[in-house]
Amino acid sequence: MKPIRKAVFPVGGLGTRFLPATKALPKEMLPIVDKPLIEYAVEEARAAGIEEFVFVTGRGKTAIQNHFDSHFELEHALTAKGREEELSSITNAMGEPGQFAYVRQMEALGLGHAVWTARNFIGNEPFAVLLADDLISGEPGTLAEMAEVHTEHGGNVVALMEVPHADTARYGVVAPGGDDGKVVEVLDLVEKPDPADAPSNLAIVGRYILQPEVLGFLALGERGAGNEIQLTDSMAKMIGNMPFNGMRLSGTRYDCGTKVGFLEANVAFALERDDLGRDVFQRIEQVLEEHRQV
Ligand code: G1P
Repeated sequence: MKPIRKAVFPVGGLGTRFLPATKALPKEMLPIVDKPLIEYAVEEARAAGIEEFVFVTGRGKTAIQNHFDSHFELEHALTAKGREEELSSITNAMGEPGQFAYVRQMEALGLGHAVWTARNFIGNEPFAVLLADDLISGEPGTLAEMAEVHTEHGGNVVALMEVPHADTARYGVVAPGGDDGKVVEVLDLVEKPDPADAPSNLAIVGRYILQPEVLGFLALGERGAGNEIQLTDSMAKMIGNMPFNGMRLSGTRYDCGTKVGFLEANVAFALERDDLGRDVFQRIEQVLEEHRQV
């Protein structure tokens, strides 16, 4: 089984849900406590053994490139002041020269189109896709767990979680076959089905390990839900030709593509921190108290 070495990060979206914050700032740079969302996804990929990272970007996303680049002035200033902790917090994000690549999506035609845009970088080997909006807690991380499932079963692996039936229209949804509680055989996939038509309430979360054959289907450019080129539709075409499994999440997933999920993630991650947890807990209790009295 070939190990997964490459990961694709689609970051071309406009982030309209977070305006005005995202007018000049990529939504992937919004912080959860003090680290941008995209860095959590990159860390998760690294923990799964990923060595090459490609970002599918768009206009106004240069802050992401700068974030993973060296910043000599800042590094110099922190070194001079002996601020080791802050220094490592910025140097940890950086990879080796040449590990990070950026391609422009050019047209906002959907997630499938974004992944297809990275085809020359992916070549002919299995690869991962991570959607930074889906922040998942837990060590060593969801993608590392999925890589184990891939080593055992081969083929394609997607992350799954149960969602309220009424919410299926927001997700790719699986028709499940054999299910051992963790690994679920995927018999079919439907993108954003109406709850009445959904084959289950097992939804895809934004983590994928895919075989390169998906690129051939994506190249057809067929439109699906929302008139977009959907990754889910091309994945569905591989079912039956090779193993296709879902893996139930073991961590907690925060939907940072929504304001409520983003705020929830900030609170949850702050409460987990040794340096902040107690203070944040107390302040939140006070805030809740004030709001109860209103
Ligand atoms: C995308 C995928 C969908 C998946 C979801 C997970 O949808 O198309 O299949 O369930 O991510 O977050 P989007 O959130 O981009 O509409």
